Amino acid sequence: MRTQVGIIGAGPAGLILAQLLHLQGIDSVILERKSKDKIEGTVKAGILEQTTIDILREIGVGDRMDREGHFHNGNYFQFNGQRRHIDLKKYSGGKQVVVYPQHEVIIDLVNARYNNGKDIIFDVENVTLHDIDTENPKIRYCKNGMDEELVCDFIAGCDGYHGPSRQAIPESIRKEHLHMYKDGWLGILSDSAPAADELIYANHDQGFALLSTRTPILQRHYLQVDPHDDIANWSDDRIWTELTERTKTNDGWQVPDGPINSKGIIQMRSFICETMQYGRLFIAGDAAHTVPPTGAKGLNLAATDVKVMAKGITEYYRSGESDVLDRYSEICLRRVWKAERFSHFMTHLLHANSSYDSFQRGIQLTELDYYTSSEAGLRMIAENYVGLPIEWEKAENLKILK
Ligand code: APR
Ligand code: PHB
Repeated sequence: MRTQVGIIGAGPAGLILAQLLHLQGIDSVILERKSKDKIEGTVKAGILEQTTIDILREIGVGDRMDREGHFHNGNYFQFNGQRRHIDLKKYSGGKQVVVYPQHEVIIDLVNARYNNGKDIIFDVENVTLHDIDTENPKIRYCKNGMDEELVCDFIAGCDGYHGPSRQAIPESIRKEHLHMYKDGWLGILSDSAPAADELIYANHDQGFALLSTRTPILQRHYLQVDPHDDIANWSDDRIWTELTERTKTNDGWQVPDGPINSKGIIQMRSFICETMQYGRLFIAGDAAHTVPPTGAKGLNLAATDVKVMAKGITEYYRSGESDVLDRYSEICLRRVWKAERFSHFMTHLLHANSSYDSFQRGIQLTELDYYTSSEAGLRMIAENYVGLPIEWEKAENLKILK
């Protein structure tokens, strides 16, 4: 089998890329390890920034998001029992975010693929990459017990943090930056009323809490916990007691509760693979970088990486120009480092840290006060939260680490 772009992974990165390429008349084949039901049913992130909203509309898959998503003009930061509003729209020059769950985005993208008369090859096994430093890179895989080979012009590694693509870049030219946090998030889905009209990020001595939402009757909330804690230690009562304590306000407001229908604990890490390209292999999304969820950036970074990749591949087929493709890693990483910085900043600003002395705690509260009351602080949070623009132009001395 032969295609122009072989895409490994049908997550947001792989599926958005396939649609961007299709609209430019470029053929692709998508190989996915899981089943269709599995990728369409897994609960993941929930916030799309303006940059991603624009990409989904541009590729013709924004209709259901526009109808069913909940558009927010701001969010709340809470500390010392006071809630401060961040007017994202005002401080970002009119931009917004939308609550529209990742698995709904996946459903829309899979439908778009089928409407284009194209397929996705699900349930593949043993995916391996070959000859990536030649003009005919290949992907070998196994489907229904048969060994197959896909010959491509380019390979897009969109296979998440644990996929094989990143490992195909030789170790000698791959610099990995990994930072582990000592905190995890316990996430729940509950049948309860929305806490507020917009998300609430709450700093509290007992730990951070986030009140988010999915629909008017289904809420998504999170608690800062020890990532090694056993979820069996967290009864529904204990979860609601903590959520209530950490998010209540001085005027007596309390989070609405209800039956919890799913719960789990995730570890937080920041990770960047520098470079994101080798030969004819380009990696994108979680395959190349991960962020702690505090800045809501994971899915959004995946969308902008593949926007850059699609532009580079399109230019290559149109005119033989390879300027954007040659600078793919540089263009993406410049923005990735900024999103990593923001996610790291949000994590430290909002999470409790038991090793802080009273001075450090005082500084943290003062930062919360400063960023939520100064024009400059509000603007910094707003422009990052709604998504920074892609910077296409060449920049000197870009390499962050020499
Ligand atoms: N072969 C084929 N497919 C694979 C393989 C493999 N060996 N390994 C992983 N995959 C698939 C996964 O099953 C998954 O469907 O690649 C896909 C990767 O998708 P995601 O992990 O969702 O990554 P990405 O598309 O980069 O999306 C960014 O941001 O919000 C966060 O973690 C969230 O998934 C989100 C991510
Ligand atoms: C979510 O709703 O899942 C969510 C929202 C905001 C975040 C992280 C996760 O920062």
